[in-house]
Amino acid sequence: MIDVLVTGGAGFIGSNFVRYALRAHPDWQVTTLDKLTYCGRLENLQEVMDDPRHRFVKGDIGDEAVSAPLVKASEIVVHFAAETHVDRSLQSAGEFIHTDVFGTFVLLEAARQAPNLRRFVQISTDEVYGSVPTGASKETDELRPRNPYSASKAGADRLAYSYWATYHVPVVITRASNNYGPNQFPEKVIPLFITNALEDRGLPLYGDGLNVRDWLHVEDHCRGVDLLLDKGEAGEVYNIGGGNEVPNVELTRRILELTDKPASLITPVPDRVGHDRRYALDTSKLKTLGWKPQVAFADGLRATVNWYRDNRSWWDPIKHQDPAFQSYYKAQYETRRGA
Ligand code: NAD
Ligand code: DAU
Repeated sequence: MIDVLVTGGAGFIGSNFVRYALRAHPDWQVTTLDKLTYCGRLENLQEVMDDPRHRFVKGDIGDEAVSAPLVKASEIVVHFAAETHVDRSLQSAGEFIHTDVFGTFVLLEAARQAPNLRRFVQISTDEVYGSVPTGASKETDELRPRNPYSASKAGADRLAYSYWATYHVPVVITRASNNYGPNQFPEKVIPLFITNALEDRGLPLYGDGLNVRDWLHVEDHCRGVDLLLDKGEAGEVYNIGGGNEVPNVELTRRILELTDKPASLITPVPDRVGHDRRYALDTSKLKTLGWKPQVAFADGLRATVNWYRDNRSWWDPIKHQDPAFQSYYKAQYETRRGA
């Protein structure tokens, strides 16, 4: 059996990856390490909790006593754990530095001493390139992160690279575009807008609504990471993008159509400070290894709307019974009328 450590595996992409990995690799023994912060949810792993090839460990990646032995026992580490929400990083950035930078450092130090480690995937993000007014970011482009979240991710990205360059830790770095799909915490735009629409609440669209994101279905992201475990080259960076550039206002309209709700729910609100206008990725490097996105955006978005419609028991308690979510929502949107 191949010992695989997935950090942040109770979150959105991590849990989709754990489920995908156990289906795709019968010879994998997967350990999920997750602190279960506000967005880490054991329900996301419900279908694999009784699988003998999976075990869950609750812990902080920055706690060396917990995380180092797990890294040292692994052949493969896929490191998703992070603070991930840009708006929260604008309210308070400390946890982003603790987890995204220091936590990554703790894992990399352990990786230096892991006898059987053959791959350490650092899950970075397209946000490290900063806002891209025209064209598409290549892996060799300069990093120009512009908010505390993306700056902490850029720090981790380059720290991981430095452990390859200096100590030959077999690091591969991925920079993916905006993911969507099931189990995404309802603070991010797609699940927030779908669930608000299902509840006939306003959809708080920032600024002029013309910021552009490139949407990648989470399953396509998982397939890309999986491919790189074998075909990626240590020390290299790979962009993973869906090729679906959509302005936010257009995304909002599509969500309203799919939920059969009126355009009057669109609620223009003041912009996010320092809001990156556009992200776009050149994915030719990954495509030469045989990857291409398989989920058409129209199909993926429809399936995602259906998932939230069918899984109200997953998100309703978060939105209506979790005081932490409610106070976040209030602080984030209270001055934003109608949301
Ligand atoms: P998420 O916020 O849904 O999940 C993050 C997970 O990490 C949660 O389960 C949380 O409990 C866990 N975690 C947080 N701090 C931890 C700590 N100190 N120790 C252990 N576990 C901790 O995030 P996501 O959207 O699934 O993103 C996963 C990764 O992918 C992140 O590294 C993110 O930067 C990256 N990424 C996300 C996107 C996207 O669109 N969501 C795109 C590109 C890259
Ligand atoms: O690009 C990859 C990144 O995508 C990841 O690295 C991050 O972890 C992930 O959170 C995501 O960042 P964004 O800031 O792009 O995602 P978010 O869902 O917060 O916002 C998407 C767009 O929608 C952005 O232009 C802001 C806008 N938005 C967002 C929210 C929450 C709104 O208009 N209204 C909202 O209420």
